[in-house]
Amino acid sequence: MEKCKFIQVQSPEEGAEQFYQLLKEELENDRLQVLGLATGSTMIPVYKKLTESALDFSNVTTFNLDEYVGLTASSPNSYAYFMNDHLFSKKKFKDTNIPNGVAPDLDAECTRYERALQDAKLDIQLLGVGENGHIAFNEPGTPADSVTHVATLTDSTLGVNSQYFENDEKIPETALTMGIASILSAKKLVLLAFGEKKRPALMKVLEGKVDQDWTITYLLEHDDVIIITDLDLK
Ligand code: GLP
Repeated sequence: MEKCKFIQVQSPEEGAEQFYQLLKEELENDRLQVLGLATGSTMIPVYKKLTESALDFSNVTTFNLDEYVGLTASSPNSYAYFMNDHLFSKKKFKDTNIPNGVAPDLDAECTRYERALQDAKLDIQLLGVGENGHIAFNEPGTPADSVTHVATLTDSTLGVNSQYFENDEKIPETALTMGIASILSAKKLVLLAFGEKKRPALMKVLEGKVDQDWTITYLLEHDDVIIITDLDLK
């Protein structure tokens, strides 16, 4: 039985505040040792709030959802760079993990990452959503039992995400990403979605049926999901 709980907020900043409160409570109750993190513009106010807060993450290990193939942490377009810029350079964590998009053997890197993730056990996984309903880089059609893998990005995702690419660097067409099973292994999932472009994806969740072509709907198979949005979905 699905239990996606929707929380409506007035702004991304209020959404970030909600997520902060949730993390604070989990930390205070000693329920947060391993935190899954996400990237994208949605997460900027979230990380701003966390870095400005007094929360202590020095006992928290993080795992990021995904990384572009071929980009190193020194590329401003890599997710490693994004994380350093917005969070890791400002808050101390016990350990941070991001898939290595320049590993010599990408399949071996996926296996290594998935194993590390399963050994650690995610307490909370933070998620955004793509306009086509993807979570992490699990594009339409990704199966429910997928674990960390190399994904080929759709034209839609390449189009949307390339707007953030700097320095004329071409957006990679592939990425390493946690799979659906990796994400659903977290004890608690919190998805943030702001703005009209995310409405179709959230409407699919409200329809209440898992649809492989909208990978966000796999969240319906998890029993502890919070969706924070500024959209009025009634
Ligand atoms: C990328 C990431 C997703 C993220 C999505 C949304 O595709 N792989 O994890 O949810 O972007 O990005 P934004 O927050 O910029 O809308």
